[in-house]
Amino acid sequence: MNMHVAVQARAHQLDPQTQTFAADVLDGLSQPQKSLSPKYFYDDAGSELFVEITKLPEYYPTRTELGILRDRAAEIAALIPANAAIVEFGAGATTKIRMLLAAHRVAAYVPVDISGDFITAQAAGLRRDFPELAVYPVAADFTEPFALPDAVRDLPKVGFFPGSTLGNFEPHDAAHFLGSARAILGRGARLIIGVDLEKDERLLVPAYDDAAGVTAKFNLNVLRRINRELGGDVELPAFAHRALYNRDQHRIEMHLVSLRDQTVRILGERIAFRAGETIHTENSYKYSLDRFRALAQQSGWTLQQSWMDADGLFSVHALEVAG
Ligand code: TRP
Repeated sequence: MNMHVAVQARAHQLDPQTQTFAADVLDGLSQPQKSLSPKYFYDDAGSELFVEITKLPEYYPTRTELGILRDRAAEIAALIPANAAIVEFGAGATTKIRMLLAAHRVAAYVPVDISGDFITAQAAGLRRDFPELAVYPVAADFTEPFALPDAVRDLPKVGFFPGSTLGNFEPHDAAHFLGSARAILGRGARLIIGVDLEKDERLLVPAYDDAAGVTAKFNLNVLRRINRELGGDVELPAFAHRALYNRDQHRIEMHLVSLRDQTVRILGERIAFRAGETIHTENSYKYSLDRFRALAQQSGWTLQQSWMDADGLFSVHALEVAG
């Protein structure tokens, strides 16, 4: 955190978490290409809006992946060793893991998520519906190394990483994550992962810019949060949501576009925008089967089996440790 921000943050009596938010925001908005980290999307309002996104007619990934998991549950389950512990990276709602648990008896389920409260609540529901399953929630940032509970140390491990969350990482971070997941899961590990496929932008762009404007609200919510938590004076109607497909980089980009020349104030700092200037808020990388295979290989994994829906929109892969 630079000195000035530290002084400002103290003067405004921000708690440590909000100080980090403040430092990240002021740092991101002082770059030539302004940016904000997507992790700040998910306050309570943002998390609710994201649930809405997954139900939108244009947002095909969630329902397509669920369809694959449902239709292929038996084939996927056949690759999970007996007595395995499933480790889910970034466990949200338990809808997806339930598809696998219903098809296959596993010894333990380890949901790993930054929000401890949320997974504790989800764990209670799972224990009720799968009385023989041992559930060991871990509250941790799954992008950093973390320790698995002792109780699963000697069990074969299967990672689970649905939702094409891998696509929200920069490719080198995605490779790094896959490598560290391999290290965390240990010898003989498997990884079941959902990856969105590259496709025509006429399908891709509306998934991130829906007619009802829910994704726009989700994107703009980060500005609302800046106003509320950092005492910002950002006028939301002066910014618009934009989603575009960057074909060279194989990614959807989400931006907030300044609709006019304007200056906003955040924690006493003035930040100037030209009309048309954008804040880059999120990437969602799309993979072809070949590019995903190469990424997995480069991180020490081999593709054991891949599944997709009949329209080729989305893919689920079973990876095993290479060599
Ligand atoms: N990983 C999913 C995707 O990229 C979900 C997601 C993350 C998302 N951030 C988003 C969806 C922002 C819509 C908007 O599609």
